[in-house]
Amino acid sequence: MIELKNDRLLRALMHETVDATPVWMMRQAGRYLPEYREARTKAGNFMALCTNPEKACEVTLQPLERYDLDAAILFSDILTIPDAMGLGLHFETGEGPRFHKPIRTEKDINKLSVIDPAKDLSYVLDAITNIRQELNGRVPLIGFAGSPWTLATYMVEGKSTRDFLISKTMMFNRPELMHQLLNILTDSVIVYLNGQIKAGAQVIQIFDTWGGMLSFEAYKEFSLKYMKKIVHSLIKENEGRKVPVILFTKGGGQWLDIIASSGCDAISLDWTSHIGDARKRVGNQVCLQGNMDPAVLRSNPKRIIEEVKTILMQFGCGTGHVFNLGHGVTPDIKPANVKVFIDAVHELSSIHRHA
Ligand code: CP3
Repeated sequence: MIELKNDRLLRALMHETVDATPVWMMRQAGRYLPEYREARTKAGNFMALCTNPEKACEVTLQPLERYDLDAAILFSDILTIPDAMGLGLHFETGEGPRFHKPIRTEKDINKLSVIDPAKDLSYVLDAITNIRQELNGRVPLIGFAGSPWTLATYMVEGKSTRDFLISKTMMFNRPELMHQLLNILTDSVIVYLNGQIKAGAQVIQIFDTWGGMLSFEAYKEFSLKYMKKIVHSLIKENEGRKVPVILFTKGGGQWLDIIASSGCDAISLDWTSHIGDARKRVGNQVCLQGNMDPAVLRSNPKRIIEEVKTILMQFGCGTGHVFNLGHGVTPDIKPANVKVFIDAVHELSSIHRHA
């Protein structure tokens, strides 16, 4: 087994001491990088990158060549599961994801079955094997999946939405149907993530991007319940180390107590939370990840450094913090500003917090 040279992320997620706060970015491999755009053009499109294990590996490593990041995240997408279920995923340029065959009726749902990752998503598992080999112990690799609720919204709507009209209508009118869909997704996410862990993913993040669009009661019943089942069904330890699980519910800042009791190891916060208040609420039950507004990266180095300092001060002393953005980095960001951000986290945290 190759020794992990930089284990700051794993240590922080176990509440162990670290020399500096670990940092990575959601969507760290993406369109803000010219080398990513070039790789995508060569491959033809985004899904061609995802389905080719060599290309997915190449793109995963791109941000690590530029920045002193403390983790790699598998280059893929949450929508590979519905694609494997036969919904026909495609991406319209500038419009986001679309499904040829959205799920609207009882008949549609009855036709769905739990995926077999070794068969349906072997390209993802192969990408993980390649990435681990290429990383050669440099930093840990994060695997991921979407939450059942978030996946269900895309499957029912057939595309991105702002108002969730069709999915919420199904949720309120035919709750048993929505639960049937969520159960199939939950079982699929479990086998998929366990496949990722066996292939070499060392940390898991669950993206519940649209959980925050629900009421408190609906969140508990239609999103959190299923994430809890996932967390409890994942392989706990691999290669002699714990495999920590991070839950990201965008807009979930007001529900931290119940998210913390889900069994996850860390909560990823969006930028609307005060990370110090969040820490008071969850205590030592879970670690916290986050939570700089990605829009700060549009400003200037001085402003970026100030914001990093503010968040480090809000969190306060001690370990249990993984620095990240409150959501993914956007295509308009200058790569040089990302370097300022990553370096500021390490420099300021080692002076202020871990000295
Ligand atoms: O974080 C990483 O670097 C790993 C790769 C990753 C992607 N998508 C690559 C991607 C991850 C973790 C995701 C997760 C994902 N995908 C989520 C949850 C996280 C979030 O951002 O809220 C969601 C909701 C999706 C679904 C999805 N994929 C949408 C809505 C879109 C279109 C919007 C957009 O940003 O263009 C995608 C496409 C996508 N996924 C791109 C990338 C790099 C851009 C595709 C391109 O290159 O054209």
